[in-house]
Amino acid sequence: MIRKAVLPVAGWGTRFLPATKAMPKEMFPVIDKPVVQFIVEECLHAGVENIIFVTGRHKRPIEHHFDINTDLEKHLEQMGKHDLLNNIREFSRLTNPIYIRQKEQLGLGHAVLVAEPVVGDEPFIVALGDIIIDGEENIIKRMIEIYERFGKSVIAVFEVDRKMVSKYGIVSVKPIEEDIGLIEDLVEKPKEEEAPSNLAIVGRYLFTPRIFEKLKVTPVGKGGEIQLTDAIKLLLEDEAVYSIKLKANVYDTGSPLGYLTTLVNFALKRKDIKDEFIKFLEDVVSKHSQWINKA
Ligand code: UTP
Repeated sequence: MIRKAVLPVAGWGTRFLPATKAMPKEMFPVIDKPVVQFIVEECLHAGVENIIFVTGRHKRPIEHHFDINTDLEKHLEQMGKHDLLNNIREFSRLTNPIYIRQKEQLGLGHAVLVAEPVVGDEPFIVALGDIIIDGEENIIKRMIEIYERFGKSVIAVFEVDRKMVSKYGIVSVKPIEEDIGLIEDLVEKPKEEEAPSNLAIVGRYLFTPRIFEKLKVTPVGKGGEIQLTDAIKLLLEDEAVYSIKLKANVYDTGSPLGYLTTLVNFALKRKDIKDEFIKFLEDVVSKHSQWINKA
């Protein structure tokens, strides 16, 4: 029923300059896999195969990554590196990418609107290209199940420390069952004292096509950008929007600290790296505590 996912990857990535001047942050490696591949895999595992990338200048490496590289495949075959070959071959053939340009970076809401001609009049997923969700269940799959029950938009949320609310879009929710709720209000990056809750929007959305109508009339908002949160607020005036609360780790790889945290956590999950990496971390911590003691 849900066939398309929009992945906005056109942002400037200013929090990560100068690294993002010529290299998309969505292509930064988490050990040996680029961030955006995690998100594409999440879509594929949920059965969503048509991936619409909203790209911009300097985002070409993303297109190359999801292309078939016959020279590389030949080389790996000649070298007898069959595991690597199968991995690369399988992945590049599974994805069905479509690229569309956001000519000016006018905000996340604008990036989603740019995809309208490709999405058309059907419900679709939006998954941010720099947010990795690492949990037991596939959140996009859950969102599709909720859509199949209620026929309305669904937004994934997670609990954040109240001190961090000003970094996120925050929602207030009327719980309806277990982890599902009805969204009552949304605020983009509120001050701690003005936040209606500590439930933050996480970067996974399922929208009915009516969101496009709302995006077209959404005025420029915080930061001089067309905010997706503002369009969802308008959508709420017409139809219900559901929330699903995540039980997973959320990694915002778009900031240096968030990226570093992601690397460490994923390294600790890797059987081939973990043991030596833990030794290294223990070493760092013991050296560091000596410095602290000296100070
Ligand atoms: P961010 O909020 O991380 O913005 O966007 P950004 O511009 O990329 O990064 P900073 O804040 O300057 O460091 C969330 C996602 O939406 C995309 C980004 O590429 C990212 O994956 N985005 C954002 C667009 O596609 N277009 C935009 O105009 C803004």
